[in-house]
Amino acid sequence: MDLFEKIAKLREDGLAQIQTAENEKKLNDVRVALVGKKGQLTEILHSMKEVAPENRREVGQKVNELRDIFNARLDKAKDNLLKKLVEEKLAKEAIDVTLPGRKTYMGSKHVIRIIQDDLEKFFIGMGFKVVQGPEIENEHYNFEMLNLPKDHPARDMQATFFVDPSHLLRSQTSPVQARTMEKHDFENGALKMISPGKVYRRDDDDATHSHQFAQMEGLVVDKNITMGDLKGTLEAVAKHVFGQDRETRLRPSYFPFTEPSVEMDVSCFNCDGKGCSVCKNTGWIEVLGAGMVHPNVIRNAGLDPKVYGGFAFGLGLDRFAILKYGVDDIRDFYTNDVRFLTQFRQEED
Ligand code: PHE
Repeated sequence: MDLFEKIAKLREDGLAQIQTAENEKKLNDVRVALVGKKGQLTEILHSMKEVAPENRREVGQKVNELRDIFNARLDKAKDNLLKKLVEEKLAKEAIDVTLPGRKTYMGSKHVIRIIQDDLEKFFIGMGFKVVQGPEIENEHYNFEMLNLPKDHPARDMQATFFVDPSHLLRSQTSPVQARTMEKHDFENGALKMISPGKVYRRDDDDATHSHQFAQMEGLVVDKNITMGDLKGTLEAVAKHVFGQDRETRLRPSYFPFTEPSVEMDVSCFNCDGKGCSVCKNTGWIEVLGAGMVHPNVIRNAGLDPKVYGGFAFGLGLDRFAILKYGVDDIRDFYTNDVRFLTQFRQEED
C-alpha cells in the first residue's frame, strides 16, 4: 500500500472512529491516536523518506489537510457529546410542574398559651408586670412565707410532690408573690404583678384533675388597697374572658395567705344563670380564688401591715380554657392530639 492509499484509509478509519467515540474519554483517545504527537498522522510524516521526492509535497499537503479535517471533526464531536450530556442531565432533573404540591402543616399556639397571652396583655394594659418564678421551690417560699408554718394543717390542701426533704414542685404560683414582694422597692410605688406558670399537685389524673396544670397569680400591694379594688379588678377579668354580660359574685372562702379570702363565681355563660348541667343547676360557675393579703404575709416580706396591704388572686388557666371553650377533659391539653390543638388556631391574633 503506498502512502496515498494509507492516507485515504486513515481518513476513512479516523472519521469512523471519531463518529463512534461514545464519550469524552474515548474521543480523547481517538484524538491522541490520530493527531497526537505520536499519532498516526505524525507517523506518516515520519515515513516521508520512503516517498519519492517529487511526491513529498503532495503527501505533506494531504497530511495537513487530513489533520485539519480530523481536528474540525474532533471538535464538533466533542461539542455534540457535551450537548448530549447537558440534555441528559436536564432530562434527569426535570421538574414536573403538573405534580400537586406537598402539603405543609403550620403549627399553632397551644390553647393554654392563647389564654395566657391574652390575660398578660390585659393585665399589662392595667399596669401590671409579668414575673416568673422557679418550678422547683423550697418550703420557705411555697409555704412559710405564705403563712403556712410547718405542721400547719392547710399544707394538706395541696398534696405536694417533694423532690428532696426541703424542695418540691411548687403546688401553686403564690410563692412568686412572696419572692417578688421581698425584692420590690415600695418607696418607688405600688407592686402590681401577675405570674403565670406551671404548678404540680399529687392528684390522680382524670377528666377534671391533672398532676400538672397552669395558674396565673396576681398581686397588688400598696398603701390603701381595699376589697373594692380586688372586686373591680376581678370583675374586669371575668368580663374580659367570659363576656361583658357576665355577672360576678364573691363567696367567703379560706386560704392561709389571704384574710378575708373569697372565691369568685361568674354567672353561667351557658344558661345565663337559669341553671344547666354546666353550672350544676346553680346558675354560677366558680372561676378563681382570691383575698386580701394576710398581715403575716406582708410582715414576712419585711413590710409593716399597718401601712401596707393588698389583694391577691390565683386563677387556673386550664380551668379558664375548659370553661371558655367547653372542653370536657383536662387531659386533652396535655396529650397533644393535633386534631384537638388545631381547633383553636383561629383564636390567635
Ligand atoms: N394559691 C391558691 C390556690 O392555688 C389560689 C390563690 C391565690 C388564692 C392567691 C388566694 C390568693 O388554690
